[in-house]
Amino acid sequence: MELHERILELALSRSFFFPSNEVYGGSGGFYDYGPVGVLIKHKIENLWKESFIKSDGYHEVETSIITPEAVLVASGHVSSFADPVIECQQCKTRMRADTLVEEKHFSLHGERWDGKLETLDRIIAEKSIRCPKCKGGFGAAFMFNLMFATGIGGERTPAYARPETAQGIFTAFPRLFKNHGTKLPLAIGQVGRSFRNEISPRKGLVRMREFTQMELEYFFNPKHPEFIGFDLVKDKKMTMMVNGKLHEMSAHEVVKKELVANEIFAYFLTKQWEFYTRVGVDPSRMYLRVLDKAEVPHYSKGNVDMEVKTSYGAIETIGNAYRTDFDLSQHAKQSGKPMDVFIEEEKAKVVPHVFEVSMGVDRLFFCILEHCLREKSAEKDWEWFDFPPVIAPYHVAVFPLMKKDGLDEKAIEMADTLRKAGLDVTYRDSGSIGRRYARADEIGVPYALTVDYETLEKGTITIRYRNDGKQERIKTEECESRIRSDLQKGRVNL
Ligand code: GAP
Repeated sequence: MELHERILELALSRSFFFPSNEVYGGSGGFYDYGPVGVLIKHKIENLWKESFIKSDGYHEVETSIITPEAVLVASGHVSSFADPVIECQQCKTRMRADTLVEEKHFSLHGERWDGKLETLDRIIAEKSIRCPKCKGGFGAAFMFNLMFATGIGGERTPAYARPETAQGIFTAFPRLFKNHGTKLPLAIGQVGRSFRNEISPRKGLVRMREFTQMELEYFFNPKHPEFIGFDLVKDKKMTMMVNGKLHEMSAHEVVKKELVANEIFAYFLTKQWEFYTRVGVDPSRMYLRVLDKAEVPHYSKGNVDMEVKTSYGAIETIGNAYRTDFDLSQHAKQSGKPMDVFIEEEKAKVVPHVFEVSMGVDRLFFCILEHCLREKSAEKDWEWFDFPPVIAPYHVAVFPLMKKDGLDEKAIEMADTLRKAGLDVTYRDSGSIGRRYARADEIGVPYALTVDYETLEKGTITIRYRNDGKQERIKTEECESRIRSDLQKGRVNL
């Protein structure tokens, strides 16, 4: 069984995630997070906010999901956010034309699709490519817009569910600039759902129709692409992929070799490298790929993708783009409202440039599951997750040794005290203690506290560490500070 198949099985049985509306058979590309998964997902999101917004004094917004058509005309999504599709004339199945031709032709001949529908039609005819489901023939390829369309109010004014969270930040820029210091740089972040009506959603959390993005838009004066504080990170190393080859490089080298346009870009690469390592992605299985000129959108002055190796192959989990003044200029044209700002020192107006970091939460979550899964071993007869404590669903499990003689009352009281102190606690009193340790390991809980007779008699308790399973007896009143300190250190062994 492939690793992603096992992850899906574990996700279902351990309440990480499952198909939405399962009792109705579900629809491809939609997943619900269960009670365990949602705790991890929120921790990833909160850590992102801490690391990408709060620690640098940036701002967070929450903008509307339903977006009027004019906004997405300006951004180019109405005209160009589309994939080529073909429909089987016999069974009416629709599929991505470029993906099918890629599998049957391009990848075999080291070629790349030139973006023309005629090319796809020609190759499908020449190679007699038939429907993989029923062997029927295909009609001509056509472009299919990926946005979910809707209408606002009784007039049904055309609108769409947003395909990225970024546009809400761009349209709010003039007000945010006015209210937050009228100075550049200004950085605004957002965590929220985005929607793409993918033709063939596949690979679980990797290609979804509704997913969560964490995006940061950094607005700056193009005459000042330097980053104050870059010196502090310039020696930080990361793995870059350039023309298919991997190189370990410092942020300073990345700028010097002109792999990215400026220090701002390099600064955020160091941040995401650190963030990924912190949340449990294996650094030896991730790299930052510098996109070829042909892959970079027309409005961008350079893109770098974070790619992570998984059992599906390498998947893109972060897009970094130097979006220039494209979005603000387009919105200025479309809305008729100015998007330029006055720079006091230059006594001139400028349309800010934008650097963007765009991360998907769900793909990251999937990569963490794959990289943190640990096999059964001589010490542990169960598969478990080696999550960094900072994203573990619960900080600590509290168990009474047995459900009698007041042990359970004491354990409930302890769980309650720790919860009130702000820790995430899971409590379980049924099953053997060994089985309860196993259940906690299976969802990656780093510490377990067991209340036994000595707890009642001497006020001490055992703390067990997830990775080595070793235990120590500590004073009951020290539990909270001990767990907090271990969480901070990321300690998982005694
Ligand atoms: N604002 C830029 C933007 O949206 P993108 O490369 O299309 O760029 C950024 O998306 C990230 O969002 C991706 O790297 C990925 O993590 C996530 N993402 C995009 N489409 C997705 C999908 N269909 N399912 C799950 N995650 C997706």
